[in-house]
Amino acid sequence: MNQSVPNIQIARELATRLESVFGVLPQVIDLSSDGMKLECEEQRSAHYRSPEDMDSANDAWVDFAVKQMTIESQRSYATNSEGRLQLLMHLSQNIEKPILLYLDLLGHSELLVRSIISANIEALCYRENAIASKNKVESFIVQITQDFEELTWLRKAHEYMELCDAKHPLQSIASAFLPDLEQVIRAQAILYIPAVCFKSKQLAGEDQAQFVTTGPFDADTSVYTQLINDWLCSPNSGPMVLNTNSPGASLPGYEGIRNCILVPVSKGSKSYGWLLAVNKTSEQANRVDPHYSVKEVNSACFGTFEASLLVAASNIMSAQARNIDFFESQELLLTGVVRAIINAIDAKDTYTCGHSDRVASYAKSIAKRMGLSVDECERIFMAGVLHDVGKIGVPDAILSKPGKLTDFEYAIVKQHPQIGCEILEHLKPLNYVLPGVLHHHEAYNGSGYPAGLVGEDIPLHGRILAVADAYDAMTSNRPYRRGMPHAKAAAILRAEAGKTWDANIVDVFLASFTEEPVPNTIESTSFPICSFKNAEDTDMQSNSHLLWRISNSISNLVVE
Ligand SMILES: [Fe+2]
Repeated sequence: MNQSVPNIQIARELATRLESVFGVLPQVIDLSSDGMKLECEEQRSAHYRSPEDMDSANDAWVDFAVKQMTIESQRSYATNSEGRLQLLMHLSQNIEKPILLYLDLLGHSELLVRSIISANIEALCYRENAIASKNKVESFIVQITQDFEELTWLRKAHEYMELCDAKHPLQSIASAFLPDLEQVIRAQAILYIPAVCFKSKQLAGEDQAQFVTTGPFDADTSVYTQLINDWLCSPNSGPMVLNTNSPGASLPGYEGIRNCILVPVSKGSKSYGWLLAVNKTSEQANRVDPHYSVKEVNSACFGTFEASLLVAASNIMSAQARNIDFFESQELLLTGVVRAIINAIDAKDTYTCGHSDRVASYAKSIAKRMGLSVDECERIFMAGVLHDVGKIGVPDAILSKPGKLTDFEYAIVKQHPQIGCEILEHLKPLNYVLPGVLHHHEAYNGSGYPAGLVGEDIPLHGRILAVADAYDAMTSNRPYRRGMPHAKAAAILRAEAGKTWDANIVDVFLASFTEEPVPNTIESTSFPICSFKNAEDTDMQSNSHLLWRISNSISNLVVE
């Protein structure tokens, strides 16, 4: 016999099969574990007795044969004792810890019996191998399923990261991709707890409004507080994985939580909060074929797989948080630069202080009424704010001259669009304002400057700013004249529509006054003012709002 049974259970099954052939249950002698044990017909279901307890003559023979085989390492021992042909044989390859089979041949040929035993062992081994292979395939399927879901989620997370920008707070990111992760790791819910909610080692009840929760889980804040404090006390800065040993019971001290993973969302010493996965669900058993019996599938505990994915989510959120920090610092820097430039212009020409802001407001209003996108409106607004920045390069004596300019002086003033471009072109994030800054003094009929462009060859920003700039210049007071009434300025715009200015833009601009009447004069220009005459932009009447708009506009740009 070349085959051997892999374990005692198969040996017993073999004995049962032989019983069906010979009518008598062979005895299985298990020496593979804790000493000599004998399973006999009356004790077949797990009861064993030692050879010393055996009371038949056969038992003595078996005892003798076992010792003989163990000592001599024989594979089988057969004898014809008192007219009875008996066989004792090894069923396992391991001579040191053998499983033996004893049977009375009952007059059958030893060769025949051995052949039957061999055939049955072969069949049982084939079946065992088939079961083992099936289990392996099931295990692979489960692993592949997990890997596929993991990869799918990571791909989605990556795609989302490509789409999101600095305007997305961590809460919106968490809301976007944590629900998919909840499905992958089979959690009842995944929560994002922002660090700002956790002050002085406490969470206030109202702070839960800032949590992002993917599933139906709403524990008391004391539970979250306890979890986070326990994590903070832990010497391990990685994920904290807790599972209860009592099915259905909560973890001690964490009411409502059977198991959980807590992962910090942080970079270096800066904490952005925590990700918390709670309560492994049992749905997983239904997600694959019901016959699956692989332990991992049915396990209702969080483990390495779930923890590693939550760490991946934490890393993504940490990276985005760092990007947000970076963009905010860039926005602050750029906002400061723009504010400094505006202040410099206003300080240089106090009589026209507020002009840039008003032109920006008018231009944005026109853009909105023309149906341009929100981003484009913000860009035009920024171009309006900066359109006269080149006046920094015009001598004060010319800029503040109360009387009429000489041709030479006027030629210098006409350089300000080009100077403005040269100043701003070094601020790469603001390069989108350059067309408007350079061409806001072009005329529709080509008589303007600096390029003398005609019609729609003039960039749209330039045509819009030209109308807004002219209207504000006409209606604003100067030390040497009062501003025109709205009606007079509007009449001039209409008269020159199609000549100096784009007629369509003039129509759009003046229509806004019909729809929403605005004061036609500025009360005073003897001191710097920053008022907005268009009712549509009354929310712009503070520098803080102006800075917000600038910041927003820059943010839009930086994102691109
Ligand atoms: Fe200008």
